[in-house]
Amino acid sequence: MAFLKTSKRSDIASFKALDIMRQVHNLEAQGVDIRKMGAGQPHVGAPAGVLEYAASMITKDPRQGYTEAIGMISLRERIAEYYQRYYGQKANADNICVTAGSSSAFILTFIAAFDTGDRVAIFTPAYPAYRNILKALNIEVVEIETRAADNFQPTLELVESCGLEFEGMIINSPSNPSGTMIKDEELEKICA
Ligand SMILES: Cc1ncc(COP(=O)(O)O)c(C=O)c1O
Repeated sequence: MAFLKTSKRSDIASFKALDIMRQVHNLEAQGVDIRKMGAGQPHVGAPAGVLEYAASMITKDPRQGYTEAIGMISLRERIAEYYQRYYGQKANADNICVTAGSSSAFILTFIAAFDTGDRVAIFTPAYPAYRNILKALNIEVVEIETRAADNFQPTLELVESCGLEFEGMIINSPSNPSGTMIKDEELEKICA
C-alpha cells in the first residue's frame, strides 16, 4: 500500500501540554466535568468592542479574502503607532508582520535569521515549542540550564561557561514557565 513518507525532521518530541489538552477534550466529550489549569490563557473572552467590530466586518463583506502577505497596511500602521505610544519606540510599518499567533511568527523569524546547521541556545526551563520548531528547521539547539539564584534567566557567565559559539539565542522575558524577567544590565552584557 502506498503511503506518504515522513521526514526525519518532523520526528520531534510532542508538546506535552497539548497532549494533556487532547485527553481533557476527550474526557469532556464523555461528559466529565474538568477544571482546566494546563494552558495559560485568559478565562474571559475578547473585549466586547473587539467582538462587535469583528462581527460587523464579517457581515459587511462576507467574502473575506487574502490580505497582503504580512498583514493589512492599515493594521500594521496602527501597530507602529501603538509601539510609539506605549514603548516610545519608532517602528516602521514595513517592518511589522502580522501572524496568526506567535508560533507562526517563530517559524518566519527563525527562517529569516538562521540557516540549517546554525547553533542556537535556549535557556531552560523554557517554552518547549522553541526547541521543537528550531529542531524541525534543522537548527542545532543547545539547552543551557538556568539557576534559581539568577531568577531562571540567562547570564553572560552561563553563556560563556558552555564554551560554544552561537548564531542565536532565544531569551524569553517574561519567561514561560518561570514568569521571570531578565535584568536590563544582563541582557546588555549578553548582547555586547
Ligand atoms: C513563551 C511563549 N511563546 C509563545 C507561546 C505561544 O503563543 P501562540 O499561541 O501565540 O502561538 C506561548 C504560549 O504559552 C508562550 O508561553
